[in-house]
This record gives sequence, structure tokens and C-alpha cells, in this order.
Amino acid sequence: MSKVQIRNLGKIFDSAKPVTALENVSLDVKDNEFVTLVGASGCGKSTLLRILGGLEYRSSGELVCEGQPVVGPGAERAMVFQHYSLYPWLTVLENIRFSRKLKAKRGNLSSSEVEAAAGRADALLQLIGLSHLAHAYPNQLSGGQQQRVAIARALMSKPSILLMDEPFGALDAQTREVMHDLVLHVQRIEKTTIVFVTHDVEEAIYLGQRVVLMAPRPGRIDTIYDVPLPAAREQDMKHAPEFLAMKKRILARIRDTSGMSTDSELLERLNLQAAAA
Ligand SMILES: Nc1ncnc2c1ncn2[C@@H]1O[C@H](COP(=O)(O)OP(=O)(O)OP(=O)(O)O)[C@@H](O)[C@H]1O
Ligand SMILES: [Mg+2]
Repeated sequence: MSKVQIRNLGKIFDSAKPVTALENVSLDVKDNEFVTLVGASGCGKSTLLRILGGLEYRSSGELVCEGQPVVGPGAERAMVFQHYSLYPWLTVLENIRFSRKLKAKRGNLSSSEVEAAAGRADALLQLIGLSHLAHAYPNQLSGGQQQRVAIARALMSKPSILLMDEPFGALDAQTREVMHDLVLHVQRIEKTTIVFVTHDVEEAIYLGQRVVLMAPRPGRIDTIYDVPLPAAREQDMKHAPEFLAMKKRILARIRDTSGMSTDSELLERLNLQAAAA
């Protein structure tokens, strides 16, 4: 059964000039699947993810998660954003333990539930390899370490669906590689279903079982690629011919759908505009 069912989903932002951010988007995400979303800037990736997370209303269509229509945020769905959103006045461990959702329920928790939560926070800390920094504050951590804590915090309420919007966009290339293997490891252990937005096609292929390419104006799904790699990913696979061929195809398609066929065409237009001004 599908974990997430998206049917003919549409989103129109009613600003002074209405924007059709999404039109007729249909997609099924399977249980324990890792789906990555790529596409030109403005094609609606974040909007789709925010609607999945219940942070944004859809204008039309249907959205069902775990058999239930989505009407707002839910404990089974957790989000991780590009910018680390840790509480600076709490330590790493406190940040993980006191997720907002748990805090909201804390009054009703039994002592065994509190104990289980503490145990889970410790286990998650170990999973992200930061046990030695349990009592450090966020400003004492590197960007990659902070984002690991944000992931652990998102996992605290045992979500079955993790929604990630360019979570590693601000990290350097080496740290990103470490994070990729960490997030794949986390997915294996926690059996999470992941929908992951990225600008980076290599990241999308390395992490995804399927890569969903979206196109702008209006935001829509253009092509869905099955990634022809074994389930257990290894960094070396990035050099495999099938990996490189897929990367080339996807990049070409993003260029074709972005409305700007080449960088040189963009520069030419800018030059013409400058000359006309
Ligand atoms: N709150 C809003 N009000 C009006 N328009 C919006 C709003 N949020 C997004 N949009 C518009 O909807 C479209 C999709 O935006 P979205 O942020 O989902 O794109 P994206 O694919 O995530 O882009 P990027 O890759 O740059 O992050 C854009 O045209 C954007 O300007
Ligand atoms: Mg975005």
C-alpha cells in the first residue's frame, strides 16, 4: 500500500498576480521508499513538501498519508529544513528530547513514556554519532553537526514519513557525503519513508530510489526516473556509467524545462537588455 497518495494536487497562491505553484500533481510514495524531488528553481518543490507536511493548504486535489486525508501537520510526518532550527538555549540532548510535539503532549505522559522518550533520545544521539556532544550547545557545533541534531529531533516522535527540504544545501561537499550515508543509514534503521527536495542532481540520484523531476510554470511533475542502483548505496557508485548517464539526462531535462536552455543564452539576453537600456 502507498504511504502517501497525491492525486491531481493543485496550488494557487492568491497574491496580486495569482501564481499556479502546482498543477495536477499525482504521485504515490511507497512504504519505506526514498523519493527525491529535483527541478528548476520555482517549480514548486518546497510548496509540494510543505503541503505534504500540512504547513500549507492545497487549492485542489487529494492528499492521503497512511490512509488518512491530510488536513494539517501530524505526528507521523516530520520536516527538516535547510536552515538549522535548533533552540540555542538548549543543549543537544535537550533539543532532541524536547521536540515541540512531545512537549505538547508532555502533560499526559506517564513516567514510563518519559523514560522511553529519554532512552530514544540517547539512542538517536548514538545513531547520529554525537553522543560525545550531548551537553554542548548548538553554537558550539559545526553546520553538519547541527543538521544531524535537527534530523534526530525530527525522528524523536517516530515519524513514519520524513520530509526534507534541501537539508544539506548549506554544507560543504565532504560533509554532505557523510550526511548522505548517515541519512541512508537512518532510513534503514528507522524504516522511514523519505521525500527529499534538492537542487543537487547527484545527491538526488545517490539517495533516491526514484527521482521525481518537476518543471515550472505551472509547477508540475515532468518525469519520474527509477534509479538503476543497488539498494545499498556506496560512494563509488557515483562514478558508475549508469549513474553518470542518468545525471546527464536529468540535468539536460532540467535545462530544457527551466525555460532557459543554456547559461550562455541567459547571458546573451542580459547583454541585449543592458545594450537596450
Ligand atoms: N507564499 C507564497 N506566496 C506567493 N507565491 C509563492 C509563495 N510561496 C511560493 N510561491 C511561488 O510558488 C512557486 C513555487 O515556489 P517554491 O518555493 O515551491 O519553489 P521551489 O521549487 O522550492 O524553488 P527553489 O528551488 O528556488 O527553492 C514560485 O513561483 C514562488 O514564487
Ligand atoms: Mg524550495
